[in-house]
Amino acid sequence: MKVLGIETSCDETGVAIYDEQQGLLSDQLYSQVALHASYGGVVPELASRDHIKKITQLTSGALEEANLNLEDLNAIAYTEGPGLVGSLLVGAAFAKSLGFALQIPTLGIHHMEAHLLAVMLEKKHPVFPFLALLVSGGHTSLVAVKGLGCYEVLGETLDDAVGEAFDKTAKLLGLPYPGGAALSRLAEEGKPRFQFPRPMADKPSLDFSYSGLKTHVLNVLRNTPMDANLYSDIAFAFQEAAVETLVIKAKKALEQTGVKSLIVAGGVGANQFLRERLRMMAKPLGASVFYPRPVYCTDNGAMVAYLGCQRLARGEQDRSYAIQVKPRWSLNELKPPSEE
Ligand code: KG4
Ligand code: ZN
Repeated sequence: MKVLGIETSCDETGVAIYDEQQGLLSDQLYSQVALHASYGGVVPELASRDHIKKITQLTSGALEEANLNLEDLNAIAYTEGPGLVGSLLVGAAFAKSLGFALQIPTLGIHHMEAHLLAVMLEKKHPVFPFLALLVSGGHTSLVAVKGLGCYEVLGETLDDAVGEAFDKTAKLLGLPYPGGAALSRLAEEGKPRFQFPRPMADKPSLDFSYSGLKTHVLNVLRNTPMDANLYSDIAFAFQEAAVETLVIKAKKALEQTGVKSLIVAGGVGANQFLRERLRMMAKPLGASVFYPRPVYCTDNGAMVAYLGCQRLARGEQDRSYAIQVKPRWSLNELKPPSEE
């Protein structure tokens, strides 16, 4: 069974093909980061227009890479939500039209569910149940993953996502968008000089809050005379506070659930400081931390094709060709395929 997976929820166009027996056959990705950089953030209208430009070419590339024809496909999975409505509509319209032309079923995929299970594309992957820390530019959540379609959101951000906080802080420090990785590099030159708050760390809930941290950065910048180390020391203090908050909540979640595997997904998962701190936290608990490789951490078509194949194998499919997307869609609304 071969499934074409299409990801267009934000600013990456991803197209991949996953086969039930052979695994991932191809994976094509185009990132729009350069397009949005000069605006300091994603411009939704530009994002949808760029998906339109790239999607056909990436699909041809994915078929070529897998040495397949359109007729070899058994289904088309596409990101139905959550995400930017215009971007989602491009992927959905393309998937439904192709599905109609080929007379094969389509599967609308939940973007965050795909992130949760992207780690399954790796040889070294956890078995259910596991905990997932989803940390990206749009999401910060801790999710208990009990099985395919069985998810419980244990905590999530009440305001900014952690990647968004990295990006906004980076912008305040004059770094180009998206500044998370650059801020992290700057932090390596910094010294412990400021003590930033760990938002929500002392609360029993597993929710996060990052908008206060960004405001704290702004206040320190306003109230500290400029010197050669100011920006790197702020970057150091910010990264430490942002990461430690994630580690505290992840530890609480591991302790509360007794689960022994934690996976980290989303762009912030590339942060080496976070990886090191999570490893140190998990060790005494006897827990293991798993990471998908960086290209599967960030948005990609492979995770959509993989999840589409899993759901198709369990009998789920959509034969309607109506184009619909869900820009807002909670993971808690998902059900295992057999219950639908
Ligand atoms: O998952 P992702 O590629 O896209 C979505 O948000 O959907 O995540 C991108 C986010 C950006 O906020 C970016 O600044 C952040 O991940 N990021 C990092 C690092 N690399 C990427 N944040 C901190 N440290 C990094 N090394
Ligand atoms: Zn994503």
